[in-house]
Amino acid sequence: MRDVAIVAAGMTRFGELWGASLRDLFVEAAREALINAGADQLDAIYVGNMSAGQFVGQEHLGPLLADHLGMAGVPAIRIESACASGGVALRTAFLEVASGASDIVLAAGVEKMNDGADVTEILATASDQETEVYNGATFPGLYAMIARAHMEKHGTTEEDLAWVSVKNHRHGALNDHAQFPRELTLDQVMGSAPVSEPLRLLHCSPVSDGAAAVILCPLDQASRYTDRPVVIRGTGMATGSMALADRADISFLDAVALAGGRAFEMAGIGPAEVDVAEVHDCFSIAEICCVEALGLAPMGEGRHCARTGETAIGGRLPVNTSGGLKSKGHPVGATGIAQAVELFEQLSGTAGARQVPDAEFGLAQNMGGTGASSVVHILQAV
Ligand code: COA
Repeated sequence: MRDVAIVAAGMTRFGELWGASLRDLFVEAAREALINAGADQLDAIYVGNMSAGQFVGQEHLGPLLADHLGMAGVPAIRIESACASGGVALRTAFLEVASGASDIVLAAGVEKMNDGADVTEILATASDQETEVYNGATFPGLYAMIARAHMEKHGTTEEDLAWVSVKNHRHGALNDHAQFPRELTLDQVMGSAPVSEPLRLLHCSPVSDGAAAVILCPLDQASRYTDRPVVIRGTGMATGSMALADRADISFLDAVALAGGRAFEMAGIGPAEVDVAEVHDCFSIAEICCVEALGLAPMGEGRHCARTGETAIGGRLPVNTSGGLKSKGHPVGATGIAQAVELFEQLSGTAGARQVPDAEFGLAQNMGGTGASSVVHILQAV
């Protein structure tokens, strides 16, 4: 396989974007990435998208989006793995370039969630219909069960969950692209409205619109597009049981651990070498479970990381420097690519006020549903 680099990135602001359609958002992010690369042609386009069919009534995204980008004729494919769609689009684009099949590929993600009439119901289609949805479960409800199990097993408290939100909003306040670029106090989070106990409004990622895009090429061609490429050293993907009822321990995300192990093995590094990470904090408990499953914190210790500042900018291992899904927003199909955009900026030294000094290795972890699919990438500054 060839070494593959990310050479340019682009993204829209995330938020309730009533003035832009799904295709407008994709074109804005993709065009920014193309302009930043100084490129005017592509060999292929992969677009992560969970459910444009349900949110905006639009299927067959590949040709539609290629056409609106002015690239009709280019192979273009929609990739779906629920909230991991963007991360899997990145992995697919990586494999296409690494294999030698293509030399310049756009990996993008887009979602327009606010146009959907029944967002909670649409999202729930990514959980198990027979054992969960038919019994009234929603994503906040399922993650609340995960939080309860983690509390029971590891002594995690509501305050531990709240510190994750406080920390991520502190980071998001430095990000112009964030949906909620404002700091929150611990009291604001602890006093916010209950959604599904123990999860409150400010433990939840919001409903978001947005798009993100990166451009990949072989490392030995990267100098055509940038003098600061970022190499994709490892990619790992895994699946696990869809239904929480089928899992031995719902406080442990085994697909995340498997995907992380595969990415680390491919990259030839371990968790201790990671300098900055973006993980899938769709609910604050998810960040705690993910840092544990990835080995970024010892099992049962993830709950302390935000409170002690270990995972804040300036700490041992900054996590979700972008603000994470919590503060930056979570347009589900775009999230995995937005994580890559943040790491591209961190590792190319262009993250501005959020910059982690001298970051060499970055890890991005994206997951679908309650973690039935997960994909991890390890990136390196060159
Ligand atoms: N963080 C910070 N502020 C938020 C917020 C969030 N997650 N969600 C909403 N707000 C703010 C809104 O801006 C609004 O403020 P305003 O009154 O000043 O305008 C207020 O809180 C109420 O927002 P609203 O949109 O009416 O909330 P809601 O009750 O419709 O939805 C949730 C709140 C948590 C239920 C919804 O955001 C949700 O379902 N999130 C989870 C999405 C999800 O499951 N994603 C997939 C994960 S796998």
